[in-house]
Order: sequence, then C-alpha cells, then structure tokens
Amino acid sequence: MPTTPMLTARWAEKDSWLLSTYERLGGYDGLRKALTEMTPDEVIAEVKASSLRGRGGAGFPTGMKWSFIPQGTEGQGAKPHYLVVNADESEPGTCRDVPLMLADPHALLEGIAIACYAVRAKEAFIYVRGEVPHVVRRLHAAVAEAYAAGYFGTDVLGSGVDINVVVHAGAGAYICGEETALLDSLEGYRGQPRLKPPFPATHGLYGCPTVVNNVGTLASVPPIITGGAAAFAGIGPEKSPGTSIYSLSGRVTRPGQYEAPMGTTLRELLEMAGGIREGHELKFWTPGGSSTPMFTQEHLDVPLDFDSVAAAGSLNGTSALMVFDDSDCVVRATLKWTEFYAHESCGKCTPCREGTYWMVQILERLEHGTGTDEDLDTLLDTCDNINGRSFCALGDGATSPIVSSIQYFRDEYVAHRTHGGCPLAADQPVLAGAH
Ligand SMILES: Cc1cc2nc3c(=O)[nH]c(=O)nc-3n(C[C@H](O)[C@H](O)[C@H](O)COP(=O)(O)O)c2cc1C
Ligand code: SF4
Repeated sequence: MPTTPMLTARWAEKDSWLLSTYERLGGYDGLRKALTEMTPDEVIAEVKASSLRGRGGAGFPTGMKWSFIPQGTEGQGAKPHYLVVNADESEPGTCRDVPLMLADPHALLEGIAIACYAVRAKEAFIYVRGEVPHVVRRLHAAVAEAYAAGYFGTDVLGSGVDINVVVHAGAGAYICGEETALLDSLEGYRGQPRLKPPFPATHGLYGCPTVVNNVGTLASVPPIITGGAAAFAGIGPEKSPGTSIYSLSGRVTRPGQYEAPMGTTLRELLEMAGGIREGHELKFWTPGGSSTPMFTQEHLDVPLDFDSVAAAGSLNGTSALMVFDDSDCVVRATLKWTEFYAHESCGKCTPCREGTYWMVQILERLEHGTGTDEDLDTLLDTCDNINGRSFCALGDGATSPIVSSIQYFRDEYVAHRTHGGCPLAADQPVLAGAH
C-alpha cells in the first residue's frame, strides 16, 4: 500500500516553499516539457490518459473537463479562456489544500501554468479563503518568485505563450467553494450558485469558457507530465488512480495528512496514524467530510476511492476522515454539523434556507432530551424535502449526517429522549469540526 509520495514529497524539505527548493527537486520540469515537447491538445490527451479525477469532491475526470473548453475559437474577437483555482477549502474536516499551498505552493503554480497552456488560457485566478492569511501571503510570495523566474508573464520560458496568475482572497463563505458561486464572488457579486446549464466550460468567469479545478487536482498534473500518464494510472484503482491526501482528524493517535494511493482503507490509514486513541473504539467516521454520509466500524475495509465509497453508500468527497470513538455522541456531532450548514446556507432556495434552520431546532430538542416521538420522522421528512430539491449540493450535503446517523444510530437518538439528555458524559468535547 505505501507508495512514493507525489503531492507531499517535498513537504519535509527545509524551506520547502521556496522556488530554489522546488527547482532543486525537479520543479517546473513538467511545464518545460509541456511547452517544448507537447501541443496543448497533447497535454489534454495525457491528462485524459492518466484518468486523473478532480479532488474537489465530485471526482469529475480532469482531462475531460479540460477538453470541454471550446478550442480553435481563440483569436481576434474570440472570448478569452480562464482557469480558476478553487482554493476555498472549507468543508468541515477538510484540511489538505491549505497545507499543500503552505508547504509547496510551486506545485500548484506549475499545475496552473500547465493547465493554462493546455486550455489556452492566458489568465488564471486562485480563489483562496481569506481566513487563511498565512496561505494568501505565501501564495503571493511564490507567484512573485515564479514571475521573476519567467514561469509566468509574457513569453513564458521563451515559448511565445503568455500566462498570468492572480491571487484573490475570498471573504470566507463555504458556499463560495461551489464553483459557480465562486465565479460570482470573483466577479464581485454576492456568492450564490448559478443555474446550470450553461456550465462554466462555456459560460464561466465573465461569461467566458472557464475551467474550475481544485488545488490538489492541479498539483497532481506536473507528475503526470513528467512521469507519464501510464505511471500515474498505475497507482491505485483503475478508475480512480493516483494518490490522495487523506486528512485524519479526531480520535486518532496521530492526526494529520497521510498521502496514500486512492483506494486505501481506513483500517490501513489507522495503522499509519497509530490507531484510535488508547482505551477506545471506533464508533463513526466520515469518508470525505461532513457532507458525506457517515460510516461505522463495518466500513473499515471499504477502499477509499470514488466508486468503492459510492458503492458502500457514501461519497469519497474530500478524503476528510473525521474519526469519532465510543465516547462521542453522534446526535451532538450531527447537531454541530447541521448548525454549520444552517449558518452557511446562502438563502437562495427555500428547501435549504428554511430546512436547515428547522433541522437545527429539532436536533437541539433531541440532543437535550426534550424531543418527541414524531421528531425523528419530521427530521427525516425535512431531509427528504431538501435532498434533490435544493438549488445546489450544499442542501443535499446538509442532509447526509442526519440521514446516515439515524440509519446507524437510531437507538442513540431514542436513548436521548428516554434518558432526558445525552446518555454519554454530559460535558464531552465535540470534534465535529464545524467552523
Ligand atoms: C457547497 C460546496 C462547497 C464546495 N467547496 C469546494 C472547495 O472548497 N474546494 C473545491 O475544490 N471544491 C469545492 N466544491 C466543489 C466545486 O463545486 C467543484 O466541483 C470543484 O472545484 C471542481 O474541481 P475539480 O474538478 O478539480 O474537483 C464545493 C461544492 C459545493 C456544493
Ligand atoms: S442549496 Fe442552500 S446553499 Fe445552495 S443555493 Fe440553495 S440555499 Fe443556497
């Protein structure tokens, strides 16, 4: 299962974030190769052949997304193409884009430059969460270094190609991670999702063809160009290849970021992370952040890749594994997550705006032991009215912890009522990760 790290390979180097370190370790070789040895279409074909799937959550094939950008339309009067980097990371439990940008910002920048060349975009925007000013500062410093070295600007590395990149700090809203809300926010409007279709590939930033990609997706591109698509496709499962940074948080002995091939199981990841904290047992966990249905002990051996997790009834999401043990109250964790969704609901559509508010009210009652027999059914009914009926996936995601926790731990909800409150320790800390 252990594999040579790609995304975290340089994290432990001294001054890993500096251009000199990145170059010393072969950095920007992928860009050089793309510009000198490959046409843009060949770069897209290589990324397609690698079967790389987007790391932002949905797992959409990256090469296919790039190929949707209308080509052959550039030139006088044609619409410009844009690349927008989704660096808004704010799904509860998710913490891999921020460390990547802090430790190795040039890996992202090189991926951006290659992607711009492939989709014939002269401008890229990094939409980064403004609440992480240290990351914003690091990105600005790395961009300045990359411009000075000729990796960005006009006539990149003498290729005749122009590529520019702008770092844009968002104001800190979970919904601005949804790609169309992000585009509205980047244009200066209130960040709310747009109706799709049309999709960003044809009508994105300023109504122009736009690729929106996650940080981890783009950082995976340079190794594909330098090492070849076949090598990348050979890691992990055939339909979800490559490595992933799994974020382990909560009741594990050594929480942190663990890079491993896609398809690694929680059992294997726990071995790396020293297991569940001593004296306790795994109770429930999220395979990909709080908007993915929770798993339990019985899912320890599910391969954590897009298709296997879906087949087991959840979503791979952002590979954010929030781990809870037998001392944690599932009702309280679910309440905390639901409070997050109610707070972050953008208010555009009624099912999510109203539904998340009422779900918090009901969960509060249930948690404090003042719920009724009907409350659980009302809660599930509300989820049913949100799921598939909301304008964007935030609403669907908000129902995941509730539906899955009732599916696996209905008895614990009932015990709160019969016990007149939480049957576990009253003052236990909550590791739900809600911001
Ligand atoms: C509410 C919500 C929040 C999201 N937040 C993020 C995020 O912070 N980062 C991200 O890359 N994708 C996020 N996404 C997914 C994006 O809409 C989009 O699918 C992704 O940026 C595409 O990049 P990829 O193809 O490289 O995965 C979010 C989606 C939703 C519905
Ligand atoms: S589902 Fe929620 S976040 Fe998405 S558009 Fe509707 S109100 Fe806004």
